Amino acid sequence: AHVVTESCNDCKYTDCCVVCPVECFYQDEKMLYIDPNDCIDCEACVPECPVEAIYGESNLPSQFASYVELNKERSESLKGSGGQITEKADPLEGPGCKKK
Ligand code: SF4
Ligand code: F3S
Repeated sequence: AHVVTESCNDCKYTDCCVVCPVECFYQDEKMLYIDPNDCIDCEACVPECPVEAIYGESNLPSQFASYVELNKERSESLKGSGGQITEKADPLEGPGCKKK
């Protein structure tokens, strides 16, 4: 599956979720997460992210290893509480957002 990592935190550009053919993105107040059970590894979301926050699990930099479990856990719990996101929203672009 693909994984949303640290760079999304405080940014939430939301360009990623719009192109996902299986609508497997979920959000909380901080960032977006991908449901690994639904992601089909199409890679459409990867080039959409302005801060390059999304990686395939197979080439995930080691410092982001913990994000595999985080995406799984957060997407599961957000699924039951209306956290799905499929459309572009105003980005957060908070102080922790580092644009590349
Ligand atoms: Fe969706 Fe494809 Fe990205 Fe997986 S890789 S989250 S299926 S757009
Ligand atoms: Fe986050 Fe990038 Fe999507 S900042 S919301 S992963 S476009």
